[in-house]
Amino acid sequence: MAEARRYLLTGASSGIGEALARQLASQGYDLALAARREDNLQLLAGELRQAHGRSIAVLQLDVTDYAACQLAVEHAREALGGLDGVIANAGVGFAGKAGSGRFQRYRQTLETNLIGAIACLDAATELFRRQGHGHLVAIASVAGKRGLPASAGYSASKAGLISHMQSLDLELYGSDIATTTILPGYIDTPINQDSGPRPFLIDVDQGARLIARHIGKRSRSAYVPGWPWAVIGRLLPCLPTWLLARAL
Ligand SMILES: NC(=O)c1ccc[n+]([C@@H]2O[C@H](COP(=O)([O-])OP(=O)(O)OC[C@H]3O[C@@H](n4cnc5c(N)ncnc54)[C@H](OP(=O)(O)O)[C@@H]3O)[C@@H](O)[C@H]2O)c1
Repeated sequence: MAEARRYLLTGASSGIGEALARQLASQGYDLALAARREDNLQLLAGELRQAHGRSIAVLQLDVTDYAACQLAVEHAREALGGLDGVIANAGVGFAGKAGSGRFQRYRQTLETNLIGAIACLDAATELFRRQGHGHLVAIASVAGKRGLPASAGYSASKAGLISHMQSLDLELYGSDIATTTILPGYIDTPINQDSGPRPFLIDVDQGARLIARHIGKRSRSAYVPGWPWAVIGRLLPCLPTWLLARAL
């Protein structure tokens, strides 16, 4: 199989996606950059073409338009002359207590982080099954390992995404289609800049470097950064409620 380096990356207009696009382009990936803010994507695409001479396509995409996600996978394949991977990174964060009358924010979080991600991944899975190879990457979160306070919609969206990736991992075991689930802790981006304490925060370039490394290695699942989140992520489902409720 030819080296797999043509990827569709959603949520590339800001934060982790933007920094990850820089990392991957510098490592020789060709990219289709997708998000709603097309101006940001055009600027980034121009920078990456100039700096790295890669093939960079821009796709304006709202991942809550699920039919458009299907088309985006097809457009990325056409624009890059083939598609070897999809990174479902687009997401929103909403911190707020359950029952505070903001159901619409929960709904938006689930429609973006869970259904939007699955819409992109499912369209890619169909293509990858047809062509016999590919790489499915999801940016989930440590917050998906256990429902956390003031995070009921966000945690649910990421738990659902982790579960979806586990299903894909089992279905595709032994095939040439790899799955990678990334579980970040706190990475400094606009999504969490107003959200209170951010323990073990790392900067976005460091986060993107680590994520790019796991994509390159096709890790099945990885906490970012590994320390201390791999320990915290494994403990979270087992810790007693009384302890967590007091600590958080
Ligand atoms: N930063 C962290 O600490 C952290 C931790 C765990 C997981 N994550 C996950 O990492 C991913 C990236 O987040 P970030 O930290 O980089 O936040 P960010 O800077 O706010 O970036 C979010 C990206 O998602 C895109 N997006 C949001 N809604 C979209 C929609 N409906 N359609 C298409 N694109 C949409 C945004 O682009 P447009 O607004 O231009 O559409 C933007 O490019 C998210 O899935 C987030 O949950 C982040």
